[in-house]
Amino acid sequence: MNSSNSQHFLWLPLSQRLTFTLTLLVLGLGYLFAMLHVFSSHAGRDGDPGLSVTDLIIAYSGSPGDTRLEAALKGPMQNMLSGEERNTIIAWVRSETGEAGYRSEVEPIIEARCLTCHEGSNPHIPTLASYQDVAKLVERDTGMDIFTLVRVSHIHLFGLTFIFFLTSLIFSHAFLRPLWFKCVVIAVPFVGIILDVASWYLTKVHPAFAWVVMGSGALMALSFAIQWAVSIWQMWFYRLPRDLVEAQGALPIVGQPATIRA
Ligand code: HEC
Repeated sequence: MNSSNSQHFLWLPLSQRLTFTLTLLVLGLGYLFAMLHVFSSHAGRDGDPGLSVTDLIIAYSGSPGDTRLEAALKGPMQNMLSGEERNTIIAWVRSETGEAGYRSEVEPIIEARCLTCHEGSNPHIPTLASYQDVAKLVERDTGMDIFTLVRVSHIHLFGLTFIFFLTSLIFSHAFLRPLWFKCVVIAVPFVGIILDVASWYLTKVHPAFAWVVMGSGALMALSFAIQWAVSIWQMWFYRLPRDLVEAQGALPIVGQPATIRA
């Protein structure tokens, strides 16, 4: 009944506890760096410092705001042309007519109203001399592209599963009641990985899924912290309850005889 994979830490050989402890220490450090990385690559995208749901929406689905050309036409460049001309350009930006639409509708306005300054001689302001120049200013920010997402997905799915397999296997030697809580702490990160990765794609469809990205990340981190702290604590600083000592360290795991579980 007391197979070693269902035994409390204190029944495990010192060498195994040492292996577990060192693994947890390095993984803990890795987790801190991973969080730093998430923070530094997403925080502040919306203009405010700190990591917010808006930052995640912009990272995954892009910025819903105006393109650079539209922002300029509504802002500093608004007096350079008539309202009608401005509407024509903005309508083109939002249409799908591309270069053909540009040639027939927009190019004449740009030539008449903008090229005196934007013909390319001033290196500090964008050139509007060719269609390609203008196209660069109307590229919509659609967030992380699918290929990047696919690449990051497979790294996350493999990497995080590997990490949580290790921490959960170590944590399975801990004594934690109620038993359902222990099982939840083990299951949450695995469910979290799937929800997290799926929500990156779903945020492109609906921005509300950024909340799921945020929530699943937080739950994963919380489970990791619980597994980490409980494991370290019980390996080195814990005194076992009496009934567990009598059962020779065999942990109450689902499926074992009720006599041990009592
Ligand atoms: C009298 C000169 C002048 C004319 C005419 C002019 N611009 Fe500008 N434009 C500037 C200057 C100077 C800047 C840089 C300073 C600023 O952004 O206010 C600028 C900046 C811009 C920018 C960059 C804004 C950014 O994101 O930094 C865009 C886009 C732009 N202009 C578009 C246009 C368009 C389109 C027209 C024609 C409808 C136009 N401009 C007409 C002088 C001009």
